[in-house]
Amino acid sequence: MAVDTMRWTGKTLELLDQRALPQKIEYLSCRTAADTARAIREMVVRGAPAIGCAAAFGIALESRRPGDLEAAFELLAHSRPTAVNLFWALERMRQALARGGASSLENEALAIYRDDLAVNRAIGAHGAELVPDRARIMTHCNAGALATAGHGTALGVVRSARDMGKSVSVVANETRPYLQGARLTAWEMVQERIPVTLVTDSMAGFLMSRGEVDLLIVGADRIAANGDVANKIGTYTLAVLAQRHGLPFYVAAPLSTFDPNIAQGDSIPIEERAADEVTGYRGSRWAPDGVAVRNPAFDITPAELVTGLITEVGVLRTPSRGGVAALLSRSRSGA
Ligand code: MRU
Repeated sequence: MAVDTMRWTGKTLELLDQRALPQKIEYLSCRTAADTARAIREMVVRGAPAIGCAAAFGIALESRRPGDLEAAFELLAHSRPTAVNLFWALERMRQALARGGASSLENEALAIYRDDLAVNRAIGAHGAELVPDRARIMTHCNAGALATAGHGTALGVVRSARDMGKSVSVVANETRPYLQGARLTAWEMVQERIPVTLVTDSMAGFLMSRGEVDLLIVGADRIAANGDVANKIGTYTLAVLAQRHGLPFYVAAPLSTFDPNIAQGDSIPIEERAADEVTGYRGSRWAPDGVAVRNPAFDITPAELVTGLITEVGVLRTPSRGGVAALLSRSRSGA
């Protein structure tokens, strides 16, 4: 992508303000861990791997300031609850601190950022093998360059397939209520001249039933030890529809999105967001005062509905507890 999701200047973390896309390209400058935690909470930066990278830079910023680094870890850990990459990145920063002291934190944050880019390219390469030429790929939310250090996970597979010479197109679900599909995925694909068609979430089943979708690829915010997947609200519905229509349903995610400490999906903490995201959009309101609202930001797709988990170390087909454990131990042994 021509535009970076984040830039480290050595003194500040510059975050592309994703709330303003696609209308405006503007960066928000973070100087402290508190600035960074606020930016994560307020969706300036979003998407599991990007949240992890930003949090790492937030700690690096704070390491240059007098004061309590422990408070910075706490603040960032409470910015958003579901994406495990946040906690994974903070843990990596803690280990760097213990090993090399505060002066090592900037380099560790840069390493987390660079590793994420490399990991996404590896995910893309493995995933692209699964994509037939002329495939029409449905995706949900934004698991693209904007959600990572670059290239993307689900959209990384799309980019890599295109780079292999395959002719691919994308069906982007708008992703109510926050519209990451309409605002961000559609924008990324238009920038890259990858053919993209925007639909509302409720059109997905109809398109599948008409044979207008060949496969689905989505990202993940946390994957439990048994392969259950937490991802943007609406993902579960798509997985059920994909099964009904005999379509492959892939989840593309780095190993940093796996949480071996969570046995199954129903134990994953699900963020509940503000009611006004459902009752209207940015200042316009369409629902009556007094109505009760639910706004869970993520849902759980059971492993049995997932055709394969596309990771940087390969594709785990029909994910299971044993398969996930083998995948994670393979990566730990560097195999
Ligand atoms: O609420 P968001 O925009 O942070 O949710 C993002 C998603 O659900 C993505 O699919 C997920 O984080 C994977 S991003 C590579």
